[in-house]
Amino acid sequence: MLDLDVLIDEQTIYKRIDELASQIEKDYGDEELICICILKGSFPFVWELSKRIHKNNITFEFMEISTYGDALETSGKIDVKKDISCDVCGKNILIVEDIIDTGTTLNYLAQYLKAKNPKNLKIATLLSKPSRRLVDVPVDYVGFTIEDKFVLGFGLDLEQKYRNLPYIAYVKN
Ligand code: IMP
Ligand code: MG
Repeated sequence: MLDLDVLIDEQTIYKRIDELASQIEKDYGDEELICICILKGSFPFVWELSKRIHKNNITFEFMEISTYGDALETSGKIDVKKDISCDVCGKNILIVEDIIDTGTTLNYLAQYLKAKNPKNLKIATLLSKPSRRLVDVPVDYVGFTIEDKFVLGFGLDLEQKYRNLPYIAYVKN
C-alpha cells in the first residue's frame, strides 16, 4: 500500500471547478463550444466541469494521448491513440487536461489540433506544475498550481491505478 496524504480535498476541488465553470460560461456566452477531454486522466474533471456549465450548445469529444508509459518520468514519446470524431474547423475548442507538467503533451496537442483550423483554441487544466515546465504553453483556465510533487486521484494515476480517488493525493516520502 502507498502511504498517501491529501493535497486537495474534494470540497476544495468542487469549489474551484464551480469558479472555472462560471468563467468558461461567461467567456463563451452564446457561442458553441467543443470540449475535448484528454483521456484517461481528464474524465472526472470534464464531468464535474460540464455539469456546472449551463449551456446547451456544448459538445464533448475524447482524445487519448500517451506520454508517460509506466514510469514516473515523462518519456518524451507522444502518441495519438484515439482522435476526435468530428470536424473542428471553424469551431471553438477547449482542450481539457488533468495536469500540465513539462508541457510537452499539451504543446504537441495544441499544435495537432490547431492544424485542424478551429476558430479558437483554449486550454483548461485542473492542475499545473509550473516549476517542471520545459515547453511554454499558454493556459487559459488553471484549477490549481501545485509544487513539484507526483499526485494521484481525481483522474490522475500511478500505473493506471488510483484514478478513482475522489481527492488529489501525493505519495509521502
Ligand atoms: P507533460 O507532457 O510533462 O506536461 O505531462 C502531462 C501528462 O503527464 C499528464 O497528462 C499526466 O498524464 C502525466 N503526469 C504528469 N504529472 C503527473 C502527476 O503528478 N501524476 C500523474 N500523472 C502525471
Ligand atoms: Mg494525461
